[in-house]
Amino acid sequence: MEMSHLIDLNDYPVEWWNEIISLGEDIKKCPEKYDAACNGKIMATLFYEPSTRTQMSFQTAMLRLGGKFIGFDNPKVTSVAKGENLKDTSKVISSYADLLVIRHENAGAAKAAALTSECSVINAGDGGHLHPTQTLTDLLTLKIEKGRLDNMTIGVCGDLKNGRTVHSLCKAMCKYSNNKFVLISSEELRLPPYVKDFITANGSEFTEALSIDEVIGELDVLYMTRLQKERFDDKNELISLDNAYILDSEKLKKSKETLAVMHPLPRVDEITVDIDGDPRCLYFKQAKYGAYVRMALIIKVLENSRSAELLKGQTQRDIKCQNAKCITNHEHYLPGSFKGEEPLLVCEYCDEIADL
Ligand code: NCD
Repeated sequence: MEMSHLIDLNDYPVEWWNEIISLGEDIKKCPEKYDAACNGKIMATLFYEPSTRTQMSFQTAMLRLGGKFIGFDNPKVTSVAKGENLKDTSKVISSYADLLVIRHENAGAAKAAALTSECSVINAGDGGHLHPTQTLTDLLTLKIEKGRLDNMTIGVCGDLKNGRTVHSLCKAMCKYSNNKFVLISSEELRLPPYVKDFITANGSEFTEALSIDEVIGELDVLYMTRLQKERFDDKNELISLDNAYILDSEKLKKSKETLAVMHPLPRVDEITVDIDGDPRCLYFKQAKYGAYVRMALIIKVLENSRSAELLKGQTQRDIKCQNAKCITNHEHYLPGSFKGEEPLLVCEYCDEIADL
């Protein structure tokens, strides 16, 4: 059977994203039109990591489409606690369901699950790597609230190193014309090189800044993120959030009237709650729109209209990915697969450069 997986938005052309966004807009206007679109379908949510919005908005989406869901949000109460590997768990659950939605702490886990899944797989966040469905949410929000996805100066702020939402967002927004990025973070939390390279390779520009204050006036979008504490190996390295990366009413005063302040949520301390009512702050709308775009995505994925090739590179069993958090270093049966030419081989699961 032909299956379409959503592992990385960039596996698909921008037209496909735009179709999902347009469908999401239509669903927002007229949700009842779609209330039987997934009658008889079952979605399985496999959440190995905590989630509020992503999990519940997927479940809401499937219920509003007339489908049903099964799943877990605590792997400790499943056979994972007995040592079952990802391959077997996803193989079996995919034989019960029409769609797997998976969130996992390791980069590349959704791709790994898709290799053996009997149904379509959607990546609901793979470690500090990517979060394509949050990006679809962000695109729908910008489309509705700003009316465009191009010609913008986009500030992304916070833990750019470990924040998967930012990685996916930058990889998507550089595909729309004339978007520029301002990367606002401390030196330790800079955006990973592979994302910067992707931005540049797609003809977009970025600059780096060390505080919100110095750049807020030039931004059309300010995308805030929290410190991804759970992704720090050495908890002693955990830095406290510097005031330079906290958005408050004083800093907001310096922004354009039309600024869109976004945040994938959960917010911790990086946006003070007193500005929540400001019309520039879109994060609660953004969370709401997530359910519409996920309805659209479920419809499109179940149409099986297009299938993404999972491993395009050469398979190289003897080369190990250097990223300790890559799924291939946890699920050892997985075939290594790398893109590019030696010595610059890039792991196809997590996008890190291979150790040669
Ligand atoms: C994000 C995630 O899980 O990456 N949350 C979400 O899905 N909306 C952001 C975060 O946890 O910081």
